Amino acid sequence: MGQKYLWWQRGVIYQIYPRSFQDSNGDGVGDLPGIVERLDYLEWLGVDAVWLSPIYPSPMADFGYDISNYTDVDPLFGTLADFDHLIEEVHRRGMKLLLDFVPNHTSDQHPWFAESRSSRDSSKRNWYIWREPKSDGGEPNNWLSNFGGSAWQFDERTGQYYYHAFLKEQPDLNWRNPEVQDAMLNVLRFWLDRGVDGFRVDVIWHIVKDDQFRNNDPDPNYQPQWAPHRKLLATYNTDRPEVHDIIGRMRAVLDEYDERMMVGEIYLPVERLVTYYGTENSGVNLPFNFQLIETPWHARAIGDAVNRYEALLPAHGWPNWVLGNHDNSRMISRIGKEQARIAAMLLLTLRGTPTLYYGDEIGMHNVPIPPDRVQDPFEKNVPGLGHGRDPERTPMQWNAEPNAGFTSVSAWLPIADDVESTNVVAARKDPNSLLALYRRLIELRRREPALEVGNFVSIPAEGDLLVFRREVANARAFVIALNFGASAAKFSNENLSGKVALSTCLNRENQIIDRAIELRPQEGIIVELRDRMT
Ligand code: NOJ
Repeated sequence: MGQKYLWWQRGVIYQIYPRSFQDSNGDGVGDLPGIVERLDYLEWLGVDAVWLSPIYPSPMADFGYDISNYTDVDPLFGTLADFDHLIEEVHRRGMKLLLDFVPNHTSDQHPWFAESRSSRDSSKRNWYIWREPKSDGGEPNNWLSNFGGSAWQFDERTGQYYYHAFLKEQPDLNWRNPEVQDAMLNVLRFWLDRGVDGFRVDVIWHIVKDDQFRNNDPDPNYQPQWAPHRKLLATYNTDRPEVHDIIGRMRAVLDEYDERMMVGEIYLPVERLVTYYGTENSGVNLPFNFQLIETPWHARAIGDAVNRYEALLPAHGWPNWVLGNHDNSRMISRIGKEQARIAAMLLLTLRGTPTLYYGDEIGMHNVPIPPDRVQDPFEKNVPGLGHGRDPERTPMQWNAEPNAGFTSVSAWLPIADDVESTNVVAARKDPNSLLALYRRLIELRRREPALEVGNFVSIPAEGDLLVFRREVANARAFVIALNFGASAAKFSNENLSGKVALSTCLNRENQIIDRAIELRPQEGIIVELRDRMT
């Protein structure tokens, strides 16, 4: 293994949604001291890095993705001193900490926006995107907000519209303005100087818009179940070529420090996604790859997606895989309980950095939210269509107590009704739990260089089977065989001999494999090869 791999290439990232991880002060909302209380759990699980969704001062119109001060902590979550303590405790355990950097928009309560909207002559007018009304007073163009309706908000006082890709309480910054760039790069430095190991960058493909503000065309493939903004192709308000120069500037700041990184949130077709790797040292270290969320859960479709992604990656591009996050339906609610074990094995044996969403490791599912408890502004703006994100943001289920060990009072979102059976304490006692499987997979991955950094080699298979090999020079090689189907399946190959290193079913370890694997329904197996398979 001559090559040196960096921590974010070898490691497993774990996403915490801070409002829902652990409440320490009895207000029903999670906080930073609460996260510190639970770090031993994360260390036990074996993850390498923790990414926190936003913790900065915010009016919480979009639960922290509307930031009113980039260089402080919201009192709901704690103080800067709490943050310093958290980072110290994370590092003491040999883990890394990633923050959420939200460069596309601020809160409308940010002092920059207050100044910008105060007059057309404001020194910060050009920090946001202001445009004249059309001659009939209408919006400057047809761009739509991701959270419903027009993306333009008329400002009575100054008689112009401002652009907001999300809520009207989240005005977009004007990244074509070098002053904005400098101010935001200083935000990165502020946190890097405090010791953070990197950033997850919110909607990074959004930050530059068309300089001519051209109208978007309708998407001829639009489906009514999609979010309304997808009626239009986002040609002119996202993924503009100039974004890559800005990313290059962000990357240069990170590279002023030792082994810091950024992972970019990007929902784009794979051939566009991979352009965000930039050229060597200019791009995002990891453009989030959401294909395991978006691809139909069938062996063939997933296999094709993996092969295509591997083929499209640039030579310097390190892959990554994501199973869930705070914007998408819970993994188990998408693919079902049985396949959750296959998904875990896939995530942790594919080549590339895996990102886990809190609670997925114990099998938390979407929690139905009664109408009077809806919190998510997306659901409030576009109700009843299933776009709401509260179901996947409910409190972590630590134990079987009434508030799930998350809080001592009523939590900000309802707690799942299966908390008695689905919780960390119960799962830690059960050697067959999903949590136990995650832990063993992470441990195996860390122990075996082929699984951590080895090559990916697709092996042809049929029907519900997905089969591939991981290998690296001078280390054991493995074949991973996953049965996506509900029937038993057999995979034969002349060169396949070794023993079972890990199965999603109990009591198969060390079984000898001699030229064929008999997979039970919905079973995944990792075979340690006796010889390298050709
Ligand atoms: C993406 C975030 O993940 C999502 O939660 C948020 O609502 C939007 N960006 C706007 O910041």
